[in-house]
Parts: sequence; C-alpha cells; structure tokens
Amino acid sequence: MSPVTTAPTVDVHLETDWARRSLIADVRRGLGNRPLRIPPQWLYDERGSELFDLITRLPEYYATEAERSILQQQAATIAELTDADTIIELGSGTSDKTHTLLRAFTSTGQLRRFIPFDVSEATLREAATTLARDYPGLLVHGVVGDFHQHLTHLPSDGVPMVAFLGSTIGNLDHEERQAFLSVLFDQLGSGAWLLLGVDLVKPVDRLVDAYHDPQGITAEFIRNVLHVLNRELHADFDVESFDHVAMWDPLHERMDLRLRANGDHLVHVRDAELEVEVLDGEEIHVEISTKFRISTISTEIDHAGFQVRQVWTDPPGDVALLLAARP
Ligand SMILES: C[S@@+](CC[C@H](N)C(=O)[O-])C[C@H]1O[C@@H](n2cnc3c(N)ncnc32)[C@H](O)[C@@H]1O
Repeated sequence: MSPVTTAPTVDVHLETDWARRSLIADVRRGLGNRPLRIPPQWLYDERGSELFDLITRLPEYYATEAERSILQQQAATIAELTDADTIIELGSGTSDKTHTLLRAFTSTGQLRRFIPFDVSEATLREAATTLARDYPGLLVHGVVGDFHQHLTHLPSDGVPMVAFLGSTIGNLDHEERQAFLSVLFDQLGSGAWLLLGVDLVKPVDRLVDAYHDPQGITAEFIRNVLHVLNRELHADFDVESFDHVAMWDPLHERMDLRLRANGDHLVHVRDAELEVEVLDGEEIHVEISTKFRISTISTEIDHAGFQVRQVWTDPPGDVALLLAARP
C-alpha cells in the first residue's frame, strides 16, 4: 500500500500580535539610539523571502550551491551517522536544499517528522505544503517563531537533528551566537544532533561582489526592510533615498550591510510613536554576515556543550558543514 499524504500542520505558537509588538520594540530600540539599527529578521516578509531566493541564484552568490553540493555528497552519511527520526530546520525559508536531506533520510525509512521553523509565516506555510505533498507519510509540522525567543516551542522527543543551514548563524554576533547555541543545547535532549552550515573566510573582493551584485538584487533585499516598516508601522521612509552599503569588517571577519541616507530625512514611524532625524550620510545597520574559520566555529559549538563529530567542505573551501552531537 502506498503511503498516505498527511496534510502539514503549522503552529503559530506565538500570541497573535507577537510579531507586531516585537517589531515595535525593535524599532524603538534600534532607531531610538545611535548607531541606527533594524534587526535582520524583519527583512523577511513575503517579498523579502522572494528576494533572498533570487540572491541564492546569483552567479556572485556562491554559498547556496556550495552548501548544496556538500549536502548531495554527504546526506546518506549524515542519515547513517545520526539515525535521527526528526529533522528540525531553523530559518528554513523555502527548505529548498533540505530536499537532499529529506530524500536520504526517508529512503532509509528512519524519518518520521520534519519540523521547519521560520519567522516568515507565508514562506513557511508554502514550503510545508510542498514538502507534505513531496514526502507522503512524512509528518510535516511547521513552527512559526523567532529562534532568539521561541526555541522552547520545539518538540524534544525522539532523536532530532537540528539543521541550521545557509550560514544564517553568521547573521548573529558573537554574544548572540553563544546565547543561541546554549539555549539550543538546553532544549535538545541527549542523543540529538546539530548540522550547521557556515560560510568561510575568503578573499574580500569575492565577498564584496557576493553582497553587491550588479543587478541590485541584494540592495533591493536590504532596502525591503524600510518597505516593511512603511507598511507595518505606517512609517514614511523615502526608500529610494537610501543606498545599500556592503563592507568588510576585518576585526570581526564579517560583511556589514547598511543603508546610507542620501540627504537629511525626518522619518516618522507612526505606530511606534517615533520621530527619527537621519542625517545625510548616516547609516542604518541592517545585517551582518560573519565568515568563519573552522577552528573558531568548532570552539563556539564545543563551548555550548556540543561535540563536533564531522566537518565537510566543498572542494574550493568556500563553505563548511559541521555535524555535532548533543551528548
Ligand atoms: C539566510 S536565509 C536562509 C534560508 C535557508 N535556510 C537557506 O539555507 O537558504 C535566513 C532564513 O532565516 C529566517 N530567519 C531570520 N531570522 C530569523 C529568526 N530570528 N527566527 C526565525 N527565522 C529567522 C528567514 O526568514 C529566512 O528564511
């Protein structure tokens, strides 16, 4: 008998106005102080997720295809090493690369459940529907939430493997990474696994090209956060008057993505009851993308209590995939 397709469930565990209250709090904190700042999770409304998807297909953006190639090579080994019956994907987005893992884990018959977790509800719902259709018999249980706040909503039964791909961990600074990894460690029971994808340090010109594509897709993606504020909080940013700036920060070994004001602006964010004077040339910090060395990210993972068991890189050494056990 062929397995039956199970409709996906998507839990929005959060209080109904969580996202809005969180956005208002972030905007008050971020635009009420200097330097000006908007946290990167607000980039990902429906349009932001679409733009990110376009970025992953740009010739300058090597990271997605490099990570996919490692997954294709190693998925069967990962399934065998972990023997996991649940995959939890944090910051899952469209879960595009995850098919490689799902195919390997379902072909051994070991996988019971897939739990995509993302802050972007529309993208999560669409991905969960596609996955439930593509993997009949697999329980697809999406969770909408913020991985800085809601990891405790993750189920901890069975043998889970948490996949955190696309170097999304690089969007967190050192303190945020430590806090995130510690909470994740506490949430997962003994015997769980962590599969972490990271982008590696490489020549600066390649990095700058990857975040400053000539088609302007990355610029549109970063500017999209101002559209989100205009729409969600009735702000009046003149979006096109902000230039996308992508620079390398050698001290922290990370790309730093900002929006630089052309001219003076007096911006009102009505629903946050905030008025912000942005001066000509002043920058709003939107996203960082840390580039790692295998030794330093392994140390960070170890510090949180995990034990790194395997590290794979693509042949040019652009990205790495680390598999760690939760003892
Ligand atoms: C860089 S994209 C990576 C997408 C996909 N994992 C990949 O490898 O291509 C980051 C994803 O994480 C999600 N995200 C960003 N910040 C988040 C947060 N604080 N909590 C939950 N999801 C978040 C975004 O909505 C987006 O889907």
